[in-house]
Amino acid sequence: MEKKIVLTGIKPTGMPHLGNYLGAIKPALELAKSYEARYFIADYHSLNTVKDADTLKNYIYEVAAVWLACGLDPDKVLIYKQSAVPETFELTTIINAFTSKGLMNRAHAYKAQVDVNREKKKPDDHNINMGLFTYPILMAADILLFDAELVPVGKDQKQHIEMAADIAEAVNRNYKEQLLTIPKPFIDESTKVIIGLDGRKMSKSYDNTIPLFCSEKKLKKFCNKIVTNSQDVEEPKDPDTCNVFTLYKLFATQDQQKTLAETYKAGGMGWGYAKGELFTVINDSIKPMREKYDALMADKSYIDQVLNEGAKKARVLAGKKLEALRHAVGVK
Ligand code: TRP
Repeated sequence: MEKKIVLTGIKPTGMPHLGNYLGAIKPALELAKSYEARYFIADYHSLNTVKDADTLKNYIYEVAAVWLACGLDPDKVLIYKQSAVPETFELTTIINAFTSKGLMNRAHAYKAQVDVNREKKKPDDHNINMGLFTYPILMAADILLFDAELVPVGKDQKQHIEMAADIAEAVNRNYKEQLLTIPKPFIDESTKVIIGLDGRKMSKSYDNTIPLFCSEKKLKKFCNKIVTNSQDVEEPKDPDTCNVFTLYKLFATQDQQKTLAETYKAGGMGWGYAKGELFTVINDSIKPMREKYDALMADKSYIDQVLNEGAKKARVLAGKKLEALRHAVGVK
């Protein structure tokens, strides 16, 4: 039996954070063990917000190096840059003709920007480019081009996958043929919300993230910034309501958790100590990946090679798909 196709993309907009790693990257790599996986770098999606060429180029390398350092095996998982598969943009043109403007008006990301504008008493269209407005169509093309059945994403992206399914259905209905595979979002409910420095969900928009890879010194600084209460050293402390301990649980063994919880409850422990313990478990678990990451970034030729080979393979698949579509719509 053929394996189902799982596909997801990461937008290169800066170093992924620990929440991205635990909530998206790690589960995606798990899924790759039982599905045929296609994981790409959504670079043209970033162009909507990243307008400096060198910055974008560096972000693209960062995302590629993160995937590889976290264990993506390019012999088993197809990895490529969206921009290196121009068939994506031809498919975008085709599906544009099947996407109502009304559907785009309802997209959360676009509506959120309109809300910001209204709050600031700016015109609705302020700071909104067509890339943002049509974002779900490009994303649908990414997905439909590769016949993805499962798309692992965070909750915030669920609507986009549903829109891709709507668009695919509109095409299939029109040509009375199953031209496009209907994708489903894959949202792993078991992945816990990863909290950030302030106890809210770790998110770039809250500015409370801990980067997945940075120097040990910086990681230590981030750990020290985690918000705690103002209890004195002598007071016994409650691990269950503490941000430091919540993060600690994600990286520590059961034994380590038990020991630190006892230290909390015994009193006489300052927050600096708990934060130091947290630093140690995070650092121990990501250090081997960080070393790989640093090596990949120091000599980018391996990343270039992986992405070039990935693009070649992706274009063979995409070329076939698009050729069938060109015939189906009548331009060939
Ligand atoms: N929009 C996704 C995000 O911001 C990234 C993305 C682009 C994507 N194209 C995709 C995810 C296709 C899954 C499938 O996280």
